[in-house]
Amino acid sequence: MKATVAKTAGFCFGVQRALDIVYEKIGEGKAPIFTYGPIIHNSHVVAELKEKGVRVIGSREELDRLEKGTVIIRSHGVSRDVYESLDREGIDRVNATCPFVARIHRIVEKASAEGRHILIAGNRDHPEVQGIMGWCGNSCTVVQNTSDLQEIKAASGTKFTLVAQTTFNYSEFKELVEFSKKLGYDVSVANTICDATQKRQEEARSISQLVDAMIVIGDMHSSNTQKLYEICKQFCKRTYLIETLDDLKPVNFQSPGRIGITAGASTPKKIIEEVQNYVRNEF
Ligand code: F3S
Repeated sequence: MKATVAKTAGFCFGVQRALDIVYEKIGEGKAPIFTYGPIIHNSHVVAELKEKGVRVIGSREELDRLEKGTVIIRSHGVSRDVYESLDREGIDRVNATCPFVARIHRIVEKASAEGRHILIAGNRDHPEVQGIMGWCGNSCTVVQNTSDLQEIKAASGTKFTLVAQTTFNYSEFKELVEFSKKLGYDVSVANTICDATQKRQEEARSISQLVDAMIVIGDMHSSNTQKLYEICKQFCKRTYLIETLDDLKPVNFQSPGRIGITAGASTPKKIIEEVQNYVRNEF
């Protein structure tokens, strides 16, 4: 059986780059190595890295207590004060922030310095958004929908700059842009959405409409994997969410028909290939 594997399955550019940086540092023999937060949402990869001596720092307090070592900043990026605090303590830091996220930091830093109020379209609890907020000075608001925009109480004459979390929904972003203009805001807009997520979802949507069974591979805690599962399930009733090949083996496929495979942004290529080979050889 030949399965249809999504071209966009697996690591995006930013996640791959961050992981390459971690492995590079391991190769250099730097120790101890820490990542500020799990480097990707994949417990297998994090466990593998732990075996190689890479530890995860889970909170800001923990980071502040650190006395030595190398800290790798993951693709989500962090606020400016995290860099400052690491530098103050003399802790070696390696920046694996995705360049698309770093671009947002530069935009908001410059706009804030010009006295503009920053609007961030995104989820305020997400680490990427918290990082962006940390480059905005005191003048920023996170908005998720048009009613959030309406509630902003800004002095007249305020100039705004609107950016988006890289994974924000594009049509919702357009709505925010239009609505802010309708409210009469003086707003300069930077579309900072990364299209990797969008392309992955579109491809999953179209493959799931063509197959009889769909396999989504990814960590159960990864929100982009969950989203892929929901999309595929909508079009293909026999959609299975698995973390590794072991989760697929007990599934009784009985006349599987055509099979499609996709994977979240934190799923290693090795796991995708194992699943692909299994499907090819077993059915
Ligand atoms: Fe970067 Fe886009 Fe991935 S912002 S981390 S390439 S989803």
